[in-house]
Amino acid sequence: MTASISSHSEQNVQHAPLAGVIGWPIAHSRSPRLHRHWLDRYDLPGDYIPIPVRPEHLSDVLRMLPKMGFVGANLTIPHKETALQIADIITDRAALIGAANTLIFHEDGKIHADNTDGFGFIANLKQHAPDWSAARGAAAVIGAGGAARAVVASLLESGAPELRITNRTKIRAEQIKAEFGAKVVVYDWAQIGNMLDGAHTVVNATSMGMTGKPPLRVPFDALQSSALVTDLVYTPLMTDFLTEAQTRGCTVVDGLGMLLHQAAPGFERWFGQRPEVDDALRQAVL
Ligand code: ATR
Repeated sequence: MTASISSHSEQNVQHAPLAGVIGWPIAHSRSPRLHRHWLDRYDLPGDYIPIPVRPEHLSDVLRMLPKMGFVGANLTIPHKETALQIADIITDRAALIGAANTLIFHEDGKIHADNTDGFGFIANLKQHAPDWSAARGAAAVIGAGGAARAVVASLLESGAPELRITNRTKIRAEQIKAEFGAKVVVYDWAQIGNMLDGAHTVVNATSMGMTGKPPLRVPFDALQSSALVTDLVYTPLMTDFLTEAQTRGCTVVDGLGMLLHQAAPGFERWFGQRPEVDDALRQAVL
């Protein structure tokens, strides 16, 4: 075999492909369990491990991993934005979102950065609410952090005619409007109830409602029962926000599926098998 290896499958002749999730801290990540489940299910060689990396070491580590047999990695807090400054190739969607969650290490040493969070968000809704379509009406997004940016990008790409957004710190929502364009309408945090009036899709993209944090309390009076309501928080699976929306007759989708679906494109690139997101995977990750 020549020094230049042309594909991951050829690489497997020498060693099983390695991938992992890089964060600081990283112990809480569910990604290793998720990828292990798929590796076992498809009986594939390879491994996926948690990699704790301090922010100041990210660049060194990313340049070293391919030399150690890694074919790629996922990124989590606090590395998702910084990785874009290190990567050699950045997909349009990662550039638009301003963050990367999936890296592919090319044979020539180049680091390819992608963001699959928006893909995961939409795939989760399509799986659990097959009749839902973003194009059918206005979307209302609560929150304007990194996760919200991926949600906004994917809803606009999926044809949402209007994208309403509100955030405790209004300037972050205004920044999103400045970057994502005229379909984005910024609401004051105090006007959150009005934002839901006539909305077809409603998303909690804040961390509120997560176990140990205060719940997200929203005046739901203007919410129509035909709306689809989803929460990016998945601990607990049924947040107070979702429970209240369900009481009002809305279709609700929990946030765990976004985590599962965002992992699929990376797994397919690294290990050569398109993985299925199903109930067995959900149970393995829970
Ligand atoms: P992520 O990458 O998960 O989106 P983030 O960028 O830190 O993380 O964003 C967290 C989001 O939750 C933000 O919209 C944040 O609002 P601010 O921009 O005002 O900080 C929101 N959030 C977190 N705690 C909140 C709280 N107690 N009340 C209102 N919003 C909150």
